[in-house]
Amino acid sequence: MQRIIPAILTANPEELRENMEILKGHTKWLHIDIMDGKFVPNTSANLFELGEAAQFFHLEIHLMVEHPEKYLEDCSGIGAKRVIFHAEAVDSPEVVLQKMEEYGFQKEIAVNPPTPALKLASYIEKLDALLVMGVNPGFQQQEFIPDVLSKVSEIRRLKQDVLIGIDGGINEQTVKQAFGAGVDYACAGSAVMKTSDPVAALKHLEEMIS
Ligand code: DX5
Ligand code: ZN
Repeated sequence: MQRIIPAILTANPEELRENMEILKGHTKWLHIDIMDGKFVPNTSANLFELGEAAQFFHLEIHLMVEHPEKYLEDCSGIGAKRVIFHAEAVDSPEVVLQKMEEYGFQKEIAVNPPTPALKLASYIEKLDALLVMGVNPGFQQQEFIPDVLSKVSEIRRLKQDVLIGIDGGINEQTVKQAFGAGVDYACAGSAVMKTSDPVAALKHLEEMIS
């Protein structure tokens, strides 16, 4: 399992392409942030702008959107491996999970900092992974909220073998704390992509937790 997954959040298709070019051959998994300007106050590039990215990466698509079910066909079209939607964005997670099952995605639900992990208790058997947000979603370079880490052991108690990720605010200062709390993987946006050498920054974070 890859432990640090680089995250790209941009509304600029050119920047998206450039970032992917930099990461080619240096990461198996790639986390792509998709936003609709409604669930979060920010927007992103469209899924189709990922083009042939799935030939080079295992794509994990983080849908920070209302009505995530409407995006699943496009996720399938671009060859996504894992799709993440927010517990806060839907009334019936089961319906979305069932559709995801039909497309054959790995199924993951994200929880925002104020959302208790126990909100997911009744769906956890259907999930491959769970994403604990370390910041309120929508933007990179925000400060990590350490209180969210108590959710990791709560989730682990609910399901021993579920993959637990953390997303938002992960950098040199916070990465050890997150893995110390028991996450399996961490997404890192600005700590990788907003540096002069993203590949070296990614390797450095990986080394810090090895
Ligand atoms: C936050 C996004 C994150 C973001 C991480 O809304 O879901 O994936 O790209 O960026 P950093 O690591 O800078 O917080
Ligand atoms: Zn994300």
